[in-house]
Amino acid sequence: MKPPSSSSRSSSVVRKPRPPLHLFTFLALIFFVTILYGQDISCIFGQLDLYPKQTDSITKKGREKLPYSIGEAERGCDIFSGRWVWDEARPLYEEDDCPYIPAQLTCQKNGRPDKEYQHWRWQPHGCSLPSFNATLMLETLRGKRMMFIGDSLNRGQFISLVCLLHKVIPDHAKSMVLADSKRIFTAKEYNATIEYYWAPFLLESNSDNAIVHRVTDRIVRNGSIDKHGQRWKGADIIVFNTYLWWMSGDNFKILRGSFDDKKKDIFMVPTEEAYRMAMRTMLGWIKQNMDPKKTRVFFSSMSPSHEKSKEWGGDPNGNCYKETMLIEDPKYWGSNTRRNIMQAIGEMFSESNIPITFLNITQLSSYRKDAHTTIYKKQWVPLTPEQIANPISYADCVHWCLPGMQDTWNELLFSKLFYP
Ligand SMILES: *[C@@H]1O[C@H](CO)[C@@H](O)[C@H](O)[C@H]1NC(C)=O
Ligand SMILES: *[C@@H]1O[C@H](CO)[C@@H](O)[C@H](O)[C@H]1NC(C)=O
Ligand SMILES: *[C@@H]1O[C@H](CO)[C@@H](O)[C@H](O)[C@H]1NC(C)=O
Ligand SMILES: *[C@@H]1O[C@H](CO)[C@@H](O)[C@H](O)[C@H]1NC(C)=O
Repeated sequence: MKPPSSSSRSSSVVRKPRPPLHLFTFLALIFFVTILYGQDISCIFGQLDLYPKQTDSITKKGREKLPYSIGEAERGCDIFSGRWVWDEARPLYEEDDCPYIPAQLTCQKNGRPDKEYQHWRWQPHGCSLPSFNATLMLETLRGKRMMFIGDSLNRGQFISLVCLLHKVIPDHAKSMVLADSKRIFTAKEYNATIEYYWAPFLLESNSDNAIVHRVTDRIVRNGSIDKHGQRWKGADIIVFNTYLWWMSGDNFKILRGSFDDKKKDIFMVPTEEAYRMAMRTMLGWIKQNMDPKKTRVFFSSMSPSHEKSKEWGGDPNGNCYKETMLIEDPKYWGSNTRRNIMQAIGEMFSESNIPITFLNITQLSSYRKDAHTTIYKKQWVPLTPEQIANPISYADCVHWCLPGMQDTWNELLFSKLFYP
């Protein structure tokens, strides 16, 4: 069902009614109903289980053993379906013990008064997650290169993984290097690197500068992945993400030629279509560059933000600021736009036969309105008196404190890597 095209067709039908009239009236009625209730119809469909079951790991299609796997998940257990439980033994590391957390994510150091957000553990309904074993992970990465590629949320997951691993490596045997769009953590004795690469759209875009990238007028170049992709070659394990940067409206600018062209050939396409184009391009790159017998590729689904308290029945003007409790409604989802994108990914991954493991972190993270950095982050631009008077106005409800929720994403990654 495509409401936009049906709306143009329905208006022409109404303008030129020709016999048999009742048929056109009927069709027009259907179109109007579609337009009026399109949102609700997609809602209803969203409730049904349209997502193919195998999207969390389409590789199950082939019965072959996946690289790095050492066991199997408990039969039929969906590790992404579960609940958060209080755990005194958390966090898995202390903020002070991990020197790699950037000042945007060190919430305690930046004055966050509460610590409860560090104590929740994800408990799948059908099984338990294997406990994270840093030694096993490092042994597995011996002589290998692991890469996180995407936006700042993926950078958070990268930092979290480094924090989970670094404690078992002595100081002289590890290093972190920042090089333009990359961050590279090296475990010297393991000859292993874990890297982060900034590519908020995965494809070539006008936001590719790792420092100066706050572009409001975002443009992505159609199909162009090799500019970045050539620097990912040789990776053994890749974790991709891309979502937030696409969310700048219903339509998105796609460049056909090159960014160097004098007259740029730019097309506006619906955001979902642009996103699908990116997913197709990414899958094509994986097919050409990653050997399914030796490598693993993961894709993290979108990271939810908590910008509007009214979405969870809170203050009409509030956001995640001062939230210290979880959302308890297991059906909570937040705003509707994300569902289409999520569905687009689900469909594309299940239609392709490229082995990519879907890290379905969206639903479980959407309960965590308590876990964002809010105002407890380093501010690059000094706050104005108006902002200081109204903390809600500058609270960050997108990024997550470390240690915290994103450590769970890595426990899920660990689980899918070793027990797919
Ligand atoms: C992601 O996980 C949630 C919670 O289990 C589930 O409702 C949803 O269908 C999953 N989405 C996809 C695309 O697999
Ligand atoms: C962690 O993994 C290492 C290497 O495989 C193993 O020797 C060790 O027993 C594991 N630790 C735990 C607590 O399972
Ligand atoms: C270290 O790992 C790289 C791959 O990341 C490999 O090419 C190289 O041969 C390894 N060096 C040693 C000494 O094992
Ligand atoms: C992007 O490229 C694909 C494949 O070359 C093409 O089918 C599509 O029409 C292009 N999109 C735009 C907006 O130019």
